[in-house]
Amino acid sequence: MSRPHVLVIPYPAQGHVMPLMELSHNMVDRGFKITFVNTESIHKRVVAAMSKNSDYEDFINMVAIPDGVETEEERNDLGKLSNTMIKVMPGHFEKLIKKINESKDGDDKIACVIADQTLGWALEVAEKLSIQRAVFWSSSAVLLALTLHIPRLIEDGIINTEGIPLTNQMIHLSTTMPAMKTGHFVWACFGDSDLQKTIFKLMFDNTPSTKLANYIICNSFYELEPSAFNLVPNLKPIGPLLASSRLAHFWPEDLTCLSWLDQQPAKSVIYVALGSFTVLDKRQFDELALGLELCGQRFLWVVRPDLTNDGTDSYPDGFETRVCSRGRMVGWAPQREVLAHPSVACFLTHCGWNSTLEAISVGVPLLCWPYFADQNLNKEYICEIWKIGLGLKPDENGLISRDEFKTKVVGLLGNEEIKTSAMELKEIAMKNVSSGGASFKNFEDFIEEIK
Ligand code: UDX
Repeated sequence: MSRPHVLVIPYPAQGHVMPLMELSHNMVDRGFKITFVNTESIHKRVVAAMSKNSDYEDFINMVAIPDGVETEEERNDLGKLSNTMIKVMPGHFEKLIKKINESKDGDDKIACVIADQTLGWALEVAEKLSIQRAVFWSSSAVLLALTLHIPRLIEDGIINTEGIPLTNQMIHLSTTMPAMKTGHFVWACFGDSDLQKTIFKLMFDNTPSTKLANYIICNSFYELEPSAFNLVPNLKPIGPLLASSRLAHFWPEDLTCLSWLDQQPAKSVIYVALGSFTVLDKRQFDELALGLELCGQRFLWVVRPDLTNDGTDSYPDGFETRVCSRGRMVGWAPQREVLAHPSVACFLTHCGWNSTLEAISVGVPLLCWPYFADQNLNKEYICEIWKIGLGLKPDENGLISRDEFKTKVVGLLGNEEIKTSAMELKEIAMKNVSSGGASFKNFEDFIEEIK
């Protein structure tokens, strides 16, 4: 029997492409065939970064459509990219589906479109072509609950119609949900700017198309954010997603750090990785380097080629020589394998949702340094609700000092309560994805429905 054919389309960012590729792997394991649609620019990067052939390549066809943006510079302007994508991509997407569905092989027809929630237009195209639709939400359930409550926030005078908070008060989306700071709303971190308005509008505008979906799934599990799932009952958690995604990295993984980790004592290494967007100014970059030196611990630090805003990764004078016996810098790490490695003691993270879930899956405690978007909200849950990490505190100039890095690393590594909570949460996470667990069942129901 031929495999049911599903078309998957992520938003063109690492934190969106990665979990949708993991979902695709899981679907291939359950007998599906996937067409994975990236923008041309992301497609090129992913293909260039591929480290080795994978069994999944036979069943995942990677294709590309244009995003309508001319240059990489324009592509870095999130507002411009998102606005252009909406104008250009639906036409290409529709053409692609029609081409597949009109091909000679009748069994190859698309059975379902799984679209990132931020691409509401993809659901509209699927509906027009009478194809089943599923939304993948790439962040926390709390954030989706917030997004779906935007009209009520406006009505209650908490934000204006452009998303700008009108009050500093803490708000509750429901009586059982933890309080939320208006300053932690995803769009609020961009200040009163055009980008803030564009991001708010995108989130607001996508809400109606989300209702076109037959299923809404996300990378989370019920016990992690029960009140949010109660507030959005049709949102089904299928996480934590666990596949190792060799097919979707934007930068080539440096696998040599795994053998370096093999040489280190158990639970001795601080893993430092700030996701795919975080940019540090030179002063902050130096302070982080000197902080890692001051800690006196072993460390593995991901220094992405574009981590600093002056485009250099020139370390403070003599740094590399002084730390060479206990520190290792790589351009991009196989993060899942690193986090699961017995030598890793803690994770200094920007609190991106994927990184957060990956750490929870292996019970690694977190040192939180949010950068933007949903990361402040995630940090709040990590430190205050789940109690599996500590937050770094900027000084009066907004800088995280080397002393602050040291104080918090020492504090985290000596905190048995946090380590125990992290291990307990890991157990709950693993139970969810084991046979019979709630996330496992949600995934089974989802694929049975599509089949
Ligand atoms: C973005 C937003 O920043 C984040 O807040 C949102 O929740 C999702 O989109 P990003 O900054 O890329 O994501 O962070 P994150 O969500 O953590 O995703 C990064 C992914 O890259 C993770 O899956 C991580 O395992 C992977 N990664 C990171 C590597 O494989 N190697 C690395 O060296 C660093």
